[in-house]
Parts: sequence; C-alpha cells; structure tokens
Amino acid sequence: MGRLEGRVAFLTGAGAGIAKATAKAFVREGAKVIIAEISREAGSQAEREIGEHSLFVETDVTSEESVRYAISAGVDRFGKLDVLMNCAGGSLQEDVPVHEMKLEIWHQTIALNLLHPFLSCRYGIPHLIKAGGGSIINFASHLGMIGSEKPAYAAAKGGIVSFTKTLAAQYVDHGIRVNAIAPAIVRTERSIQRWETGNGILAKDPSPAMRARILKQKLYPFSVGEPDDIASIAVFLASDESRMITGTTIAADGGRSSYLKISTD
Ligand SMILES: NC(=O)c1ccc[n+]([C@@H]2O[C@H](COP(=O)([O-])OP(=O)(O)OC[C@H]3O[C@@H](n4cnc5c(N)ncnc54)[C@H](O)[C@@H]3O)[C@@H](O)[C@H]2O)c1
Repeated sequence: MGRLEGRVAFLTGAGAGIAKATAKAFVREGAKVIIAEISREAGSQAEREIGEHSLFVETDVTSEESVRYAISAGVDRFGKLDVLMNCAGGSLQEDVPVHEMKLEIWHQTIALNLLHPFLSCRYGIPHLIKAGGGSIINFASHLGMIGSEKPAYAAAKGGIVSFTKTLAAQYVDHGIRVNAIAPAIVRTERSIQRWETGNGILAKDPSPAMRARILKQKLYPFSVGEPDDIASIAVFLASDESRMITGTTIAADGGRSSYLKISTD
C-alpha cells in the first residue's frame, strides 16, 4: 500500500519543476492530485503524463478568484482535500537592490511567493478541517533563511518561514500539520536554463572554477539536487511518517544556510 493511499493533494505550479515531480511521486504513493498551473500547455501535459489520478485546473495563484475556483473544482472531482502544496514561485532577474528596483517587481514577487500560499490556505484549509486534518507544505528557499542579493524574493521566502510557524500554531487543534521546504539549487528546467544553458552564467563560462563557484559544489557538495530529491521530502511531509513534525522549515540546501565554510583554494 502506498504511503499516501486515498489522499487528495492540491499542488500549485505542478506543470513543471519540483511540483510536477512531486505530483508524480504522490500518485505513485496512491494519492490523487490537482494540478493548479497557470500555463495551459504545461498543465495539460502534466495531466496527460500523470493520467486519470490527476486533474489540471488552469489557475493563476496570485488571483483570489482563480485559487478559489481551482480548489472547489478539485474537491468537486475528487471529493475532498488532504494535502496542500504551495509550490509555484520563483525570483526575477529584476529583483535588484531596493533603491533601483521597480515597485512592480516587488509586488509581483510578493504576490507569487507569499500572497499565493495565503490564498491557497484561505480556500484549502476549510476542506482540510472537514477531512479531519491534513498536511500543508509551503516553499521557502535558502535565500529566505539568510540574506541575499534579491530583496523581494528573500523577504517573501523569509515570510514563508514565519507564516508556516503561525499556521502550524493556528491549525494544530484541527489535526493539520504545516511545514516548509527551503531548497538551494534544484535542477528544474527553469534553473538549468538560468544557470547552465542559453544566457546562463555557466553557458558563458563553463569552466570547473566557475561551476564550483556558482554551484558551490566544493564547499557544499549536497546543495545541488534534482526535482525528485525535493519530491521525496514532500512525500515524507505529506505522509504520516512525519506526524511529529509541524511548524518547521526543512533546509534542503546541503548546509548552505547552516554553516559558513571557508575555502582553502
Ligand atoms: N529550482 C530551484 O533551484 C529552487 C531553489 C529554491 C527555491 N525554489 C522554490 O521552489 C518552488 C518551485 O520552484 P521550481 O524551480 O520547481 O519552479 P519552476 O519554475 O520549475 O515551476 C514553477 C511552475 O509554476 C508555474 N507558475 C508560475 N506562476 C504561476 C501562477 N501565477 N499561477 C500558477 N502557476 C504558476 C509555472 O508555469 C511553472 O510551471 C518555488 O517556490 C521556488 O521559489 C526553487
């Protein structure tokens, strides 16, 4: 029997990357999944790949009405909701020092990374309560655990850490656990594009020195992972195996937010 047998999960951004890999992993463990995704092409493709245990609902997670509709369409189809995984997100290249940043970049980044989990919790939590409990998985980043050169993204992801703790406190009496995952570099298509191909820094300078510098492989050998590495953590958090864990952020970053290692090179 799968570790998520009979459960229903709502995953945002599941047309690509970490959430798509997780939707597949959830279904392998016996769950049914709602793919809430803004790209019709990516969402339909994910639904085709995953098959009958999935439902794609075209969703803009920054829109209250769109999130409300997606959750109710998912519950109509599968009858209930046990897991919310708020994964859509990301940073923008234009997320530059605050005195140079366009205000719209701040608003876009906060809407996608912080307003969105608020909205899916707002409309999803009543169904988790109805189901007698459940698991919420938010997405932070190692750049939300330490300072970084991206102020809007760091503020949004840092906000996720305390939002997660607060939700854990507020819904513990309903049997709902709330945790976050904070990855460092995950080799999704978007991340590969940004770092390793096209205009990516590594495409321009693929030398081992640059690779080591960018990916911090020498200092933090466990800090670069694949979407399936994060999907495994999400399966654990969605399942009863993690029943003692709530209010925490799991730093899946090979130690980058935990310690500073000085290079001797
Ligand atoms: N990939 C990494 O290296 C990395 C590192 C740290 C944190 N994270 C976090 O992990 C999460 C997932 O990242 P990823 O790399 O898998 O992302 P991704 O870019 O591969 O996939 C994100 C998906 O979300 C969808 N999406 C974007 N805006 C949307 C919207 N408004 N409504 C609905 N869907 C929307 C995109 O179309 C895409 O399919 C994000 O929150 C990200 O900040 C990723």
